[in-house]
Amino acid sequence: MNVTHLECGACGLKHEARVLLNLCRECGKPLLVRYDLERAQHSLTKESLRSRSADLWRYREVLPVEEDENIVCLGEGWTPLLRARRLGKQLGLEGLYIKDESQNPTQSFKARGMATAVSMAKELGVRKLAVPSAGNAAGALAAYAACAGLECFIFMPRDTPRANVIECEQTGAHVTLMDGLITDCGAEVGRRKEAEGWFDVSTLKEPYRLEGKKTLGYELAEQMDWSLPEVIIYPTGGGTGLIGMWKAFDEMEQMGWIGPKRPRMVTVQAEGCAPIVRAFEAGKSSADEFPNAATVASGLRVPRAIGDFMILDALRESGGTAVAVTDDELIRATREIGAAEGVFCAPEGAACLPALRKLMDRGEVQSGERVVLFNTGAGVKYLECYV
Ligand SMILES: Cc1ncc(COP(=O)(O)O)c(C=O)c1O
Ligand SMILES: [Zn+2]
Repeated sequence: MNVTHLECGACGLKHEARVLLNLCRECGKPLLVRYDLERAQHSLTKESLRSRSADLWRYREVLPVEEDENIVCLGEGWTPLLRARRLGKQLGLEGLYIKDESQNPTQSFKARGMATAVSMAKELGVRKLAVPSAGNAAGALAAYAACAGLECFIFMPRDTPRANVIECEQTGAHVTLMDGLITDCGAEVGRRKEAEGWFDVSTLKEPYRLEGKKTLGYELAEQMDWSLPEVIIYPTGGGTGLIGMWKAFDEMEQMGWIGPKRPRMVTVQAEGCAPIVRAFEAGKSSADEFPNAATVASGLRVPRAIGDFMILDALRESGGTAVAVTDDELIRATREIGAAEGVFCAPEGAACLPALRKLMDRGEVQSGERVVLFNTGAGVKYLECYV
């Protein structure tokens, strides 16, 4: 067995592995998957990785699925870490990189989390899945559920980008569009799930999406030859990728792959929805719900995140920060990155550029440092933003 148990991220209570669970039964906070890392280390070595598959399942021993036959794979992960030379030159940064997550199945990093969550749902005997989504998670869930032969029920705000809605319909999902935000969609899933027999795969409300997302951290280390960058800039909604990378760094240190040094983790949000930035600036350990959330970067339109305390911990422990950018800035940045590097970013990913500029202006990023921007999705899914 890879997994020893699940552990509450807030109160630390241990929960049994291999049982279908959502949140901590004591305090209602997210559960984290814990592994037998000593055992994993025997077969999962830096050398062994050289001959493994070019997808996230290369890190098999630190992923939760026990039986190979339950793995649902569309080729997710092992995306390129692009060296952004021209953009770096414009900024006066030698070591600028873009982790291009638009090259995943369904064109976003959400594929990572849904690959592991749907595989685990299959392993634990789930038949029907439900999710509230800002768009990309929905597209990913629909695809993996289809591939696994499971039924899925998707709830999205009515103004979600058209591409996300159409891809879900074309991959066989039951789609409901709602007036309101992702939090309203989440409440609807919560109200109906018991009667309908749905398993709720909301981000961080089940333990396994995080495990797929954490492979971002493993890949970054491997692609940078086990020397992590000084700065990671990450567009944060629910924060699963950031929390996941932070977890991956700990696991890698426990396996002796990296030392104690960590990148400074930087959250980027849109000014129209910046609950984590506000909480960070106020020195709080959790974030208040952001009123009247509005931004064209739909993945960042998350007014309340259940993993807020873990995001804020990672930012502070790493010596990082949180930055808000305007919609104008992030839309303009799409064209700048596109013209300099040939990557048509999602608006969420593009937001990393104005954030980096602000940090450089404030003297918080130096020209000799290695900086990784996360392009979490594909611009082609957001044509409404660019016409
Ligand atoms: C393209 C894109 N980037 C970033 C995010 C935010 O991701 P997370 O919830 O992991 O913070 C989303 C979420 O919907 C997204 O679709
Ligand atoms: Zn708890």
